[in-house]
Amino acid sequence: MRVYIFLCLMCWARSESKRPCLKFSDLSIKDSFRDLFNPKMQMFLLMYTRTNLNCAEPLLEQDDSLNVNFNTSKKTVWLIHGYRPMGSVPSWLQKLLRVLLNQDDMNIVVVDWNRGATTFIYDRAVNNARKVAVSLSECIQRLLKHGASLDNFHFIGMSLGAHISGYVGKRFQGQLGRITGLDPAGPKFSGKPSNGRLDYTDAKFVDVIHSDTDGIKFIKCDHQRAVHLFLAALETNCNFISFPCHSYKDYKTGSCVDCGDFEKKSCPRLGYQAELWKDVLKERKKRSLRTTVFLDTTGTNPFCTYYFVLSIVLDDTLKDGIITLRLLSQLGKVEEPKLYANNKSLYKVQEVKILAQFLNDVVNISSIGLAYYQSSNHQCSTCQYRIQRLMLKSLTYPERPPLCRYDFVLKENKEVFLNPCTCKPEEI
Ligand SMILES: *[C@@H]1O[C@H](CO)[C@@H](O)[C@H](O)[C@H]1NC(C)=O
Ligand SMILES: *[C@@H]1O[C@H](CO)[C@@H](O)[C@H](O)[C@H]1NC(C)=O
Ligand SMILES: *[C@@H]1O[C@H](CO)[C@@H](O)[C@H](O)[C@H]1NC(C)=O
Repeated sequence: MRVYIFLCLMCWARSESKRPCLKFSDLSIKDSFRDLFNPKMQMFLLMYTRTNLNCAEPLLEQDDSLNVNFNTSKKTVWLIHGYRPMGSVPSWLQKLLRVLLNQDDMNIVVVDWNRGATTFIYDRAVNNARKVAVSLSECIQRLLKHGASLDNFHFIGMSLGAHISGYVGKRFQGQLGRITGLDPAGPKFSGKPSNGRLDYTDAKFVDVIHSDTDGIKFIKCDHQRAVHLFLAALETNCNFISFPCHSYKDYKTGSCVDCGDFEKKSCPRLGYQAELWKDVLKERKKRSLRTTVFLDTTGTNPFCTYYFVLSIVLDDTLKDGIITLRLLSQLGKVEEPKLYANNKSLYKVQEVKILAQFLNDVVNISSIGLAYYQSSNHQCSTCQYRIQRLMLKSLTYPERPPLCRYDFVLKENKEVFLNPCTCKPEEI
């Protein structure tokens, strides 16, 4: 009898110290069918830190005390998924957790509202999103009593999760540190007043990545590209720089190549690092607190491309036409960029700036290939133009010193290969 009791006590103690890990609700399309007749809504919070990277734990214990692994003086990232009619566990979840915890020592809370998001009725998921925001705000209130601060909270929400983050932000009067919206859901939200969706006033810093303007194709994977861009930006050492610009058309025609405003920081970066531009963006946009930026990506991971800006100071005026650029690497490989330039009347100015996007980085540039072709109605095969200065600068890696070439002649329709030198210090 005594032995029996002793054994039992052992079991108890063991299960107390090694409680099972929490699991994200793994549902299926069957649950979407069930939801048609029997709607359910539940929210679970799964907490991860570097100490329990492989085993989610509850944020608060049953007696309302805080999980010992949660450190209130550290940053807390809240990950919120979106509409999931197939019910599966989000494929990016584990990877994003790991990459974030590798980046910073922080607390991560996964908001699992899969039972609520798994439904064929999109409007029902939209209503549930509001309920999630209410429950989540109550949990946050309790967390604040334990000494956590709103300023340390960074919400990362996908699709409907982006709007949940916005609702939570509104409940705390925009005092959350940061909200990142990854492809915020369009249907039922676009064109709605700011109190019904994620808005830039919902946190001290709000950054949104739109990778898909067509919000109707919900279930299709293209809607999730923003999550993968965010992940890639954390993993690759290629900086995803982006260009503040009024419109996509202006960006495409090379009207927004100037990262000069940002001085040493270069243009703002997409992803986790975007926060580093918070103050400089605020200062720059005195009138409007919103900045729209554009960038192009490749179609496959890591999606990042390499941007350079070419600036040319002319003695003569160039007529309508195009300037082309190629780079020759140390190993003799030629890299051809995509050029963002407007070939109409752009060259009537003294300084021309052209944005060049390369699929491969060129670290050591041995030669710059430059040519000028006039538009057909102005051709002049004997014309030549004096160039005062050419400067080539990597925008992707602003720390790299720019390359220059001074006083040379450009003949029409003839490519010149120039060996670049270091720039005069006063020009950098
Ligand atoms: C909590 O985080 C702070 C700041 O990183 C650190 O100084 C402190 O030691 C941590 N506390 C515990 C109990 O780990
Ligand atoms: C430049 O002009 C040519 C000929 O007019 C045209 O085919 C080409 O699309 C133009 N390029 C850009 C970037 O506008
Ligand atoms: C660039 O040149 C430096 C110095 O010559 C060399 O150490 C480095 O490996 C080169 N990098 C590449 C990518 O070619």
